[in-house]
Amino acid sequence: MSRIVGQLESDKRPFFGKDLKNLKELLNYVFDTLLGFTNKERVIFKIERERLDVTLPGTRPREGHLHILTLLRQQIEDIFVSMGYAIEDDREIETDYYNFEALNIPEGHPARESQDTFYTTEGFALRSQTSTVQIRAMERRGAPLRIIAPGRVFRRDTPDMTHTPMFHQIEGLCVDKGITMAHLKGTVAEWLRRLFGKDTIIRLRPSYFPFTEPSAEFDFSCFKCNGSGTFEGERCPPCKGSGWIELGGSGMVHPNVLRACGVDPQIYSGFAFGFGLERMCALMYSLDDIRLMFENDVRFLEQFR
Ligand code: DAH
Repeated sequence: MSRIVGQLESDKRPFFGKDLKNLKELLNYVFDTLLGFTNKERVIFKIERERLDVTLPGTRPREGHLHILTLLRQQIEDIFVSMGYAIEDDREIETDYYNFEALNIPEGHPARESQDTFYTTEGFALRSQTSTVQIRAMERRGAPLRIIAPGRVFRRDTPDMTHTPMFHQIEGLCVDKGITMAHLKGTVAEWLRRLFGKDTIIRLRPSYFPFTEPSAEFDFSCFKCNGSGTFEGERCPPCKGSGWIELGGSGMVHPNVLRACGVDPQIYSGFAFGFGLERMCALMYSLDDIRLMFENDVRFLEQFR
């Protein structure tokens, strides 16, 4: 009100004030006489209008939460940190050398084909596997070392229920004197026991990877049917009745890989493993389409906190 008064020329101000007073009197007259409001009723009217019901449900702010993949990654990181592993985070844009060459995958090797990735105009590759961090970490830290490296990887795949051109892997690497396949088996078993319960068992199946020798794929006993293959009288869904869930690749680090990082294979040996986070997540939560994890529909994401 004082702002309005302030804008008036000074000789008009007294009249304005007087008019306002008259208006107020007029309104009071209308309320009191014509509408029959008493003073008391006017007070009640005001109280009613300004009433605050503290018992009414409020408008709750929507709380954010971490993504389903972040939650699983953090759970796995916690387990490995408690076993003395450091977490390595490294670049997603790599040279051919780190993505293939140093991992014992020379030009023309068939393993390059299944890991066809994207290239920048300068010829850099978007890494197709987190195994690149094995090289980076050994170059930086030398031996001995124990690391896990979670991160994004890229492949030239057409999106479908089980493929997306970008997904996540977690890589593990342990290099020291006297490391054997038994350490690999014990470490993977302990990690999966802590994640899925103490009765979980694992198995290694002979396989091939250019950067490990010998190589093995690792499976674990199904968390839903405890390895029986049957759940509530039916064929168990996550393991498709086999009792086993395939998770990732592993093996003893190839001497060529150690040498490429300046680690002497006569003195040191190591094991490595790697697996896909989306696949693991999809199995744990019975998701039949991994694309759900990237569509960012909150109705889906909100279910996993
Ligand atoms: N890099 C492999 C892939 O993307 C997975 C893998 C296999 C990682 C064996 C390892 C390993 O460290 O030892 O298919």
